[in-house]
Amino acid sequence: ASSSSSSHDNFLQCLHLHSPNATSFSKLVFTNTNFSYSSLLHFSIHNLRFSSHTTPKPLVIVTPLRPSHIQASIFCSQRHGLQIRTRSGGHDYEGLSYVSHHPPFILLDLINLNSVHVDQHSATAWLQSGATIGQLYYQIAQKSKTLAFPAGVCTTLGVGGHFSGGGYGFLMRKYGLSADNIIDAHIIDAKGRLLDRESMGEDLFWAIRGGGGASFGVIVAWKIRLVSLPPRVTVFRVARTLEQNATKLVHAWQSVGSKLDKDLFIRVILQRVNVNKKTTIKASFESMFLGSVEKLLPLMQEMFPELGLVREDCDEMSWIESILYFANFPIGSPLEVLLNRTDLNKSLFFKGKSDYVREPIPENGLEGIWRMFDEQEAELGLMILNPYGGRMDEIAENEIPFPHRFGNLYKIQHLVYWLQEGEEAEERHIDWIRRLYTYMEPFVSKSPRAAYLNYRDLDIGVNNNIGYTSYEQASIWGSKYFKNNFRRLAYVKTKVDPLNFFRNEQSIPSLIPSH
Ligand code: FDA
Repeated sequence: ASSSSSSHDNFLQCLHLHSPNATSFSKLVFTNTNFSYSSLLHFSIHNLRFSSHTTPKPLVIVTPLRPSHIQASIFCSQRHGLQIRTRSGGHDYEGLSYVSHHPPFILLDLINLNSVHVDQHSATAWLQSGATIGQLYYQIAQKSKTLAFPAGVCTTLGVGGHFSGGGYGFLMRKYGLSADNIIDAHIIDAKGRLLDRESMGEDLFWAIRGGGGASFGVIVAWKIRLVSLPPRVTVFRVARTLEQNATKLVHAWQSVGSKLDKDLFIRVILQRVNVNKKTTIKASFESMFLGSVEKLLPLMQEMFPELGLVREDCDEMSWIESILYFANFPIGSPLEVLLNRTDLNKSLFFKGKSDYVREPIPENGLEGIWRMFDEQEAELGLMILNPYGGRMDEIAENEIPFPHRFGNLYKIQHLVYWLQEGEEAEERHIDWIRRLYTYMEPFVSKSPRAAYLNYRDLDIGVNNNIGYTSYEQASIWGSKYFKNNFRRLAYVKTKVDPLNFFRNEQSIPSLIPSH
């Protein structure tokens, strides 16, 4: 305790000395003796697995208002042997943005760096990392009825983590990922330099668009290119149970979802439900079409008649209304709900994993999944099947670090949510999702078994707890997230942070052995 209290005092003194305006900065720094330390820490935790009393806590939380506050925090952490965790929205599946098992560490919480400036004339926007995608969507809608941005479904996601790990939603088959639409960025590196695209160079600018920001520095802001949409889109949600032919429908969707017109996105959510006291599987087909119902119906008739979509299943609305619809806000909610940073699932424990599918899973393989759902004891187990194809097929695997492009039919997100606190429940539910993952092995991508960085999963491999992690060792998990791009990421890391100051359980390794 005495060594951590002295590093804590030293760190605070250092911040005081190196801050341009020390008095106002001190209001942005919180230690566990501050009244608001705990509420601030918990405010952006979105997975209860990482908010228990045994979860390691930061020595200090800094909530910067300006880049100079970040620079001072980096300088003083290095001087006093502290690690940094950077948090924007706090949705990391494994809590890496606010938990380090190597105390003492400080938390840079970017919650106050959240401005969004949309320029509708040039169809671009600058936004700070601590902004949420809900704020971005809101500000776009304030300025235009036909501009939009391809990003996630849950509106509380922070753009710091979301964009730097990829970022996808219902516009992805038309316009790709968030990271595909970034045109400039501001980052502070391990030397404390504030860099833009030109001064950071194309290697680093490449790395932070999909390679995860946390390995390279602290991203302060992004410049993005907005995309054009028609003023009205069409949405539908159609659910079918096993008794309503769900197995055949899901089987057929696998070959169709990635071949559809780019304007049409249909994802599938699978879960176990009770209907008339009988357990069954429900497949929900959720869709957005960038056009009218009149155009959608014949398209569906041609490509996916099995679903039996009818006009009454569909609603026409503006793009911003579709954001509220898919984020499950009650019908009629004002757009201002997009500015709320608290999400609906906040009081749940969860574990997620991801897979990519390149060949349709046969019907008996799907039936095995249904049996896996029967063994599931948590409040909610889900599989979300997200179609690829369209724009995703056109972008080269090495354009940005995110490599999952041509040849993928769809991505699966495996999820389990539970309410009960304690190790026993956690072990039981995580054991289930791991067994599901094992069951899926024959049906999904191989060598490597690919995974999506933004659905971070420490089961697929981690860096050494203490000491140097070699490139070969890190490749175990790195090749799954990044395929052949992992080598270039390690090269960029070695160039910009050779001593591996910015590190975590799954940070890109430097090729220069250190500590
Ligand atoms: P958080 O702050 O936890 O950061 C995540 C990682 O990025 C950490 O390693 C952190 O250190 C680092 N980081 C954050 N800010 C940084 C910065 N400024 N500079 C450097 N590094 C930084 N994904 C998706 O693509 N589509 C979707 O629809 C959804 N939906 C969704 C719903 C829910 C409820 C959750 C919990 C998650 C998702 N996701 C998702 C996954 C999401 O994209 C992923 O968790 C992002 O990393 C979240 O970004 P945050 O800034 O919120 O996370």
